[in-house]
Amino acid sequence: MRVAVGMDHGGYPLKQTILEEIRKEGHEPVDVGAFSLDPGDDYPDFARAVGEAIISGRAERGVLVCGSGVGASVAACKMKGIRASVCHDHYSAHQGVEHDNMNVLCLGARIIGSELAVDLIKAFLAATFSGEARHVRRLQKVEAMEAGK
Ligand code: RB5
Repeated sequence: MRVAVGMDHGGYPLKQTILEEIRKEGHEPVDVGAFSLDPGDDYPDFARAVGEAIISGRAERGVLVCGSGVGASVAACKMKGIRASVCHDHYSAHQGVEHDNMNVLCLGARIIGSELAVDLIKAFLAATFSGEARHVRRLQKVEAMEAGK
């Protein structure tokens, strides 16, 4: 699958590790920046770029990295159809897809190291949404909230 990859300066140190891991797992990274380390850049710009890549169909999922993963997930979830969360444990990285249809994995490069990042990306990319009725029902409720209903 195509995986949009975005990060601000806080996430930049993990960039090459993430791109390599996505390729290693047989997927295609879609690099939406940052393309250089700029301490003045802003995480919402990359959250928007990852979200737009998914919404437009240029990518099926995203990996979004900032310093903590928090700003990235807060910003990405403002976009319709984006289900993003910071996950720094193996279970959440796959369960978030299986139950919640999470389509953007957010990571904090100031919190986790490259080995854990690789493990989380592997778990995220290998997981698929279960499609179970209870999860579909819950997602429909989330979608209603997104639609202001
Ligand atoms: C940038 O310094 C930092 O605030 C940002 O990367 C992120 O951690 C926000 O949640």
